[in-house]
Amino acid sequence: MNYRHIYHAGNFADVMKHLALVLCIDYLKQKEKGFFVLDAHGGCGLYDLKSEQAQKTKEYEAGIAALMAVQEAPDDIQLYQRQIAKDWKRKHYPGSPLLIARMLRPQDQLLANELHPEDVQTLKANLGGFENARVLQMDAYEAIRAHIPPTQRRGLVLIDPPFEKKDEFQTLVKQMKEWKKRWPTGTYMIWYPIKAHLPVPELHEAAQNWGEDVFIWEFLKHPRHQAETFNGSGVILLNPPYQVPGRLSILENILRHALRGIFETYKT
Ligand SMILES: C[S@@+](CC[C@H](N)C(=O)[O-])C[C@H]1O[C@@H](n2cnc3c(N)ncnc32)[C@H](O)[C@@H]1O
Repeated sequence: MNYRHIYHAGNFADVMKHLALVLCIDYLKQKEKGFFVLDAHGGCGLYDLKSEQAQKTKEYEAGIAALMAVQEAPDDIQLYQRQIAKDWKRKHYPGSPLLIARMLRPQDQLLANELHPEDVQTLKANLGGFENARVLQMDAYEAIRAHIPPTQRRGLVLIDPPFEKKDEFQTLVKQMKEWKKRWPTGTYMIWYPIKAHLPVPELHEAAQNWGEDVFIWEFLKHPRHQAETFNGSGVILLNPPYQVPGRLSILENILRHALRGIFETYKT
């Protein structure tokens, strides 16, 4: 396990993923009944952008720094900006489990999972103050298998692997079929990188065959087949919360200018 998210925290890929995540959680809160979230690849929860590692890449500059500079943004971007604001003042950036934990109500539940032995300790410390957040240290796919369907019957699973394994795309294709059998009505958010050599079309095909309600949201910094560059990233939403695809699409113009890239969207 060599991947450390601190080098990439707050980059353009985090921004698009976390914006989509915040809107999904915001939607889930519209009903009084509690919901369940499993963050299967949680990371550390909070990242110091002044750290040596973050300063080495400075990826956050073209990501969250650019987004936080947008003035008078539409409400949905402001909703995300507000979740970041306190950390941003001291040059920190919250990861997915902390973003989720902060948005929960007492009746909601978060399971945040992380396999890396150091990062899981950091995650525990960062989620320590949240009564309805629990940290697990398991393989992500085992954690999903063990916890879906949840008793709440409504909620979301975030799948955000580091893509260190060559067959991660094939694993996702297989896992998606299993999730459908176990919990067909759950919302699943899958993040993936776009690079020329990666089998993105296989993942698209599996998502599009998954069901009637699937949204694929991609952001490209370079042409998708450009060799040897990180060309962009995508978010797949299986059973997206009502209105979230539309709410995200409306923001594309502003995001395009701030993050400097283009969007491609697919909907079944
Ligand atoms: C892209 S990072 C997660 C970032 C986080 N979701 C966020 O948005 O802030 C991927 C994380 O998965 C962890 N990881 C790698 N293999 C794993 C596995 N098999 N099971 C669970 N976590 C794993 C890595 O240590 C890393 O922290």
